[in-house]
Parts: sequence; C-alpha cells; structure tokens
Amino acid sequence: MPTLHWIGKEKVINHHMDVPFKVLEHSYGFDNGTQTDQETKSGNRIIHGDNLEALKSLLPEYEGKVKCIYIDPPYNTGNESWVYNDNVNDPKIKKWLGQVVGKEAEDLTRHDKWLCMMYPRLKLLHKLLAEDGAIFISIDDNEQANLKLICDEIFGANNYISAFVWRRRASSQMAQSKVSIDHEYVISYFKKVGTKVLGTKKDYKNYSNPDDDLRGDWTLGDLTVGMTKDQRPNQFYELIDPETGSVYMASPKRVWTFAPETMKEKLAENRVVFPKTKNGKPMMKRFSKELKSDIDPISTWITKEAYSVGLNSEGTKIIQEIFGDKVFDYPKPISLIQLLISQIAKDNDIVLDSFAGSGTTAQAVLNLNKQDGSNRRFILIEMENYADDITTERIKAAIKGYGTTKGTGGSFDFFELGQPMFLEDGNLNELVGIEKIRQYVYYTETKTPLAETKHKDNKHFLGKHNDTAYYFNYEQDEVTTLDHAFLATMKTKAEQYVIYADSCLLTKDFMTKHHIIFKKIPRDITRF
Ligand SMILES: C[S@@+](CC[C@H](N)C(=O)[O-])C[C@H]1O[C@@H](n2cnc3c(N)ncnc32)[C@H](O)[C@@H]1O
Repeated sequence: MPTLHWIGKEKVINHHMDVPFKVLEHSYGFDNGTQTDQETKSGNRIIHGDNLEALKSLLPEYEGKVKCIYIDPPYNTGNESWVYNDNVNDPKIKKWLGQVVGKEAEDLTRHDKWLCMMYPRLKLLHKLLAEDGAIFISIDDNEQANLKLICDEIFGANNYISAFVWRRRASSQMAQSKVSIDHEYVISYFKKVGTKVLGTKKDYKNYSNPDDDLRGDWTLGDLTVGMTKDQRPNQFYELIDPETGSVYMASPKRVWTFAPETMKEKLAENRVVFPKTKNGKPMMKRFSKELKSDIDPISTWITKEAYSVGLNSEGTKIIQEIFGDKVFDYPKPISLIQLLISQIAKDNDIVLDSFAGSGTTAQAVLNLNKQDGSNRRFILIEMENYADDITTERIKAAIKGYGTTKGTGGSFDFFELGQPMFLEDGNLNELVGIEKIRQYVYYTETKTPLAETKHKDNKHFLGKHNDTAYYFNYEQDEVTTLDHAFLATMKTKAEQYVIYADSCLLTKDFMTKHHIIFKKIPRDITRF
C-alpha cells in the first residue's frame, strides 16, 4: 500500500504512546438549566484542553467504546485571523511541535506541521472507536488528499467508507483554478468493514404500526422466493389461513420462503399476514428494526443526502441567534452532523468530537435525543479558552432553549485537564490524589469503573470483579509490603487475588497455592 511521507513523520508515528496520562478535573456540572458543583453523571462531557492529552485521558474509560466520532479539525487554509488559528501556528501547537519534532520543526512546511499534528491524534481516536463504530472527518481541498492517505494507514484502507461531498455554500466561490469550490468533504471510515448503518428517515417511509405490534413499525414483504417447485420441493405446499381456513399455493415458479416447520413458527409469531381480498396473497411482516441489512449502501444514501443537507450559513445563524453576534467562524450546520451521527449512534451510544469549536456536535446529539427519546451521550474537547464561554454557553442555550427554539433538556459536566498520573521518573504523582490513582489502577485491571460502595474490607481493597479481588496497598510516604500480616487484614473471599504493593515477602509456592498475584508499584501498573 502506498504510504505518505513528510518531514517529522518518524517523530510522531508512535508519539501517542509517550503522551503523559493526565487525570480529568471536574470543574462543574450543568443539570437541566442549573450549574452544580457535583458531577451530573450524565455521561455528557466537555473537556477543556489539548485533545492529544484529553484523548489519552479518556482511554481507560472509553477505549473501544466510542460509537461515532465526528471531527472538524482546522483545514489548514493558512488563515490566522479566525477565532482559532487555521495555519497550524497556534502558540500551543507550535510549542508542542517544537517539543515533539525538535529543531527540525522550524523548517516544516504548513502541510508537514498539519500532518504531524493530526497523526498522533488520529491514532488515539482509532483506539477509542468501537468495533462497530465509524469516524467522520470534515476536510476541504487543502488537506483532503493527505488526510485520506494517513487515515488509510491508521484506520485501514479496507475500512474506508467514502469521502462524502457536502455543499457548504449556496453561491459559488472561485478558486484560483476558476472552478467553484462550494463544497468540501467528509472522509469516513468504519472501525471494521461491514459495519451496519441505521439508515435515514427515507429508508423507513413505508413502515407503520397499524396493529400496535409491540415489535414496532413494520411493512409487508414478499413471502415467496424465485425458485421452482423442482428446485425446492420442500417449499412448495399448501399454506392455510388458520382463521378462515383459506388455502394458498405459491406459484410453481415461486415457492414459499420457508419450509413448513419454519412457516409454522412464523405463523405462531404473527408474522404472516393473510389477504382480506380474494386475489390477494399472504405476505410477511418485516419490522423496521430488522431493516439495517436492507439499506442501500452507505455511499449511495449519504452521498445523496449530505450534498444538500444544510449550508454553513445554517450554523452561523444559530450562533448569531444564541450570542447576538458572529462569535465563531464557520460552525458546521447541525443538520449535517445529525445526519452522520444518526447513521451510527443509537440509544446510550457515545459520540466524540475532539475539535469541538462552537459545540455543534453536542447540539446535534441533544436534538437527536429529543427527537427519538434516546440517550446518546457526547464528549467534546476544545483547546481554546472559549471552551467555557462559547462551546459551553452554546450547549447551555441548546439545553435551555433560545429565541424561538425550544430547549432539548439535558445535562453535562465540564472538565479541565489535571495533573499527570506518573512523574517523569516513572513514579506515581501523588498530587493526583489517592482516589484517582485507585480508580486508574482498578480500571486498568477490570475495564470497569471503581464503584464508590462501602465495604468491610481493609482500606486498600479496590473491588471484586469476575471473582478476582483487587487490593492496592499504597501509602504516600511508606514502603508497603505484601506479607502474611497484610493477608490477615483482607476480608473478601475470591477465587483469585491481585495485590499491588511496593514489595512482596510471600513465596512463589504460597502465592500459587492461594491464587495470589503480586504486582509491584509502580512497575506493574499498566500505562495507557
Ligand atoms: C474547524 S473548528 C471546529 C468547528 C466545529 N465543528 C463547529 O461546528 O463549531 C476546529 C476547532 O478545533 C480546535 N482545536 C484545534 N486544535 C486543537 C487541539 N489540539 N485540541 C483541541 N482542540 C483543538 C480549534 O480551537 C477550533 O475550535
């Protein structure tokens, strides 16, 4: 497969692994219109900080769990006068490039810099994406060809869906080439090729529920297949309406879809609908929730819809309605992001946008939830200080309502990036606080969050998971030991014990006999 090379690539290719893991510090919650000190626990999060570090901090809790990622990174147009810098020249990014790429960074072209910036961030996004998830990336001609090549490398060329064309402005805008550039692209990948998509409203237009079937909306489908009686003798038989006793035969050139035993099951499940008229034929109930596999290929339907879904001006109008002014340059229209998210994310799914800008993605999620009563959750990351006064203020307005737009309701929590979990010498950073360290260790072991439940065990007990009890024997200024005295303080019975401490005095044989695994602090704590 051809790969793209640029100056600085070798410095960033594995950089995502060196990014320090920082904890997230909760600043405040916003719960249905009221600001609170407590976490709302809604699962909706806005994180202020560089997304490289913020994405890393999400890994313990969200690795492989994000269903839909939408990002709209700076396009690298060279424009430095917008609210954000579109020339990879933001002082924070410049500093980061200097640290990671080194002196060489001073000579990088705009495109080298952009690729250095994007590559490790995309690597982390790939880790966060669920096996049945998809990523959508807005981009224009400045970097689309470069982006496609690095995404092929990171997400796999086989998993490429398409570069949907989205029309961003109604009037044409002439490029130097005198060709109108009224459009841009949404480069998209599945985590795994063959992922099912949910379809658009149009796919469901023939579905309804006249008999209040608990299985939801349905439509009538054929109950026969195009095979002859000779090819499928077992599927050529008399089908009897149990209510009227009427007898139906499939024509010899089209036999019933099912053999008699399966047809009996379908009848018992109330899936066969007999005709009310003389010349009608028995049909099959097909439920909308089973539709997924029948939907047109993604490239056809999003391509058609995305082009005309809504213009940039739609996004600008909302910002003006909320803030009374154009406080953000080129926010995306909600309709575009809703279209993309709705193909992948259902109830309880997580939607991530790590270049949040004015927060359009959150509003799209809130709108979709309001429309179908679901609870998709959003995680937004924004590096600039307007994370609090533009991004968050817009989401508050969407929740509460603004102008003539009714509020969606909803809650979220605002976080800042906090201290690194590990110091440069590899030791635990005590400034993080013991609770965050315990949560981290438990998560690395079990991939589940540490519950704040009361227990009768010693204070080092973390929890029990899959019949394994976990202990984190750690004291700030003391060396801790796993010995018989420590074992005597343990109260939880389990099939296996994982015990962290600074040192261990138990023999190998004793530990094997009693199913004890010793893990040395900090050496054996998993790093993300
Ligand atoms: C094109 S805008 C996104 C606009 C957004 N889709 C909307 O509709 O409002 C890109 C945003 O990404 C932010 N950004 C750029 N680099 C970032 C980084 N390393 N970490 C977090 N945010 C970043 C910029 O500050 C800017 O707000």
